[in-house]
Amino acid sequence: ETICSLVSLQLLEASVGTSVLKMSMYRNAVWFVKGLREYTKSGYEAAAKHFAPADLDVNLTGRSFIITGANSGIGKATAQEIANRGGTVHMVCRNKGRAEAAKDEIMERSKNQNVHVHIVDMSSARQVWEFAQNFSQNNTVHVLINNAGCMVNQRELTEEGLEKNFATNTLGTYILTTALIPALKKVEDPRVVTVSSGGMLTQRLNVEDLQFEKGTFDGTMAYAQNKRQQVILTERWAAQHKEIHFSSMHPGWADTPAVQSSMPSFHAKMQSRLRTEAMGADTLVWLAVSPAAIKQPSGLFFQDRKSVSTHLPMASTRSTPQDEEKLLAALEELALKFKP
Ligand SMILES: *[C@@H]1O[C@H](CO)[C@@H](O)[C@H](O)[C@H]1NC(C)=O
Ligand SMILES: *[C@@H]1O[C@H](CO)[C@@H](O)[C@H](O)[C@H]1NC(C)=O
Ligand SMILES: *[C@@H]1O[C@H](CO)[C@@H](O)[C@H](O)[C@H]1NC(C)=O
Repeated sequence: ETICSLVSLQLLEASVGTSVLKMSMYRNAVWFVKGLREYTKSGYEAAAKHFAPADLDVNLTGRSFIITGANSGIGKATAQEIANRGGTVHMVCRNKGRAEAAKDEIMERSKNQNVHVHIVDMSSARQVWEFAQNFSQNNTVHVLINNAGCMVNQRELTEEGLEKNFATNTLGTYILTTALIPALKKVEDPRVVTVSSGGMLTQRLNVEDLQFEKGTFDGTMAYAQNKRQQVILTERWAAQHKEIHFSSMHPGWADTPAVQSSMPSFHAKMQSRLRTEAMGADTLVWLAVSPAAIKQPSGLFFQDRKSVSTHLPMASTRSTPQDEEKLLAALEELALKFKP
C-alpha cells in the first residue's frame, strides 16, 4: 500500500525489529526510550510547565505566513493559531477540496478574512518552483513554514522520475526555501521554520544514495533520512543567510490523520499517550510568531520550545562538512534541472 500524506511526525516503529546493523539497533532503542519519556503527551505536559504563556501573545496583523501541508494535522492547527492572531495565511496544499474545507473552517473560527489557498504538489519540483516564482511576484512573505511531509512505504517515483519521499521532504523544501530567500530578505523579522522529526536522530546523513536506489527500501528509514537532511539544510542556511532566522523542530508524537493512516499499529498501541494536534503544533507556532524564539541563535533544532541536540549520545550520526557540501551541491543541481 502506498501512503503519501501530510505527515507531521513519524516513528520508526518497524526498524527496531528489522534492522541488521548493531549501531542502528542501538540508536533505535535509545531513541525509543527517549521518545516514551519526552515525545508523548506526558512529556509535553511536563515541558509546558516551564512555558511562558505571554510568548504567544502577539498581534500578527500585517505579517504573512506560508504554510505547506496546511489542511490537516499540525499544519492546520498552526494555520488556525496564526489566523487567530490576525496573520495573513497562505495555505499550500495538494488537494483543492480538502484545502478549501480547511480554509473555510479556519476563517469561520478566527473571523480572519486573510486566509488563502494555493494548490501545489510539493513532490513536483516544477510546481514548487512555479509557485515560489508566482508568489514572490505579487505577495510578501515574512515566515515560511515547511510542514508538508510524505512517507511512502514502497519505493515510488514521481512523474518527474524522483523518489517520492526525497522529492517531497528534501527537494521540495529545498526549492521552496531557496526560491523564497530573496523575498524573505526584503521584510522585517523573516523566519523559516521546518518541521523535522525526532526520528532523524536515528540517521546519519547518507549523501551517496539520496534517492534510495541501493539495498532494500524502507519507508520509515527514508523518511528519517530526509528529516536529517532538513536539519542539516537548516544549519547551512542559517550560516549562509544571517538576515533570516532559521529553525527546525520536532512536534513530538501527536495524534494526526497522517500518523493514523501511515502507521496504524503504532497509532493503535500508543493512542492514549499521543499528543493532541495543538500540543504538536505548539513549538512550531512559538518558533513562527514569538519574539522569544528569535532571541535563540539561528539554525537550531527545537523540541518543546527549547533547542535540543541533533545527535543521540555515542550514535555516530555526525556528518562531515564535505558530505554536507555534497548534499547542497546535489540539491542545487537537481533544483536547477526543474527550474522553469
Ligand atoms: C492588532 O493590530 C491591528 C493593527 O496593527 C489592530 O487594528 C487590531 O485591533 C489589533 N488586534 C488586537 C486584538 O489587538
Ligand atoms: C503560476 O502563475 C501562472 C500564471 O498566473 C498560472 O498559470 C500557474 O498555474 C501558477 N502556478 C502555480 C503553481 O501557482
Ligand atoms: C501579478 O500581478 C500582476 C498585476 O496585477 C498580474 O498581471 C500577474 O498575472 C500576477 N502574477 C501572478 C503570477 O499571479
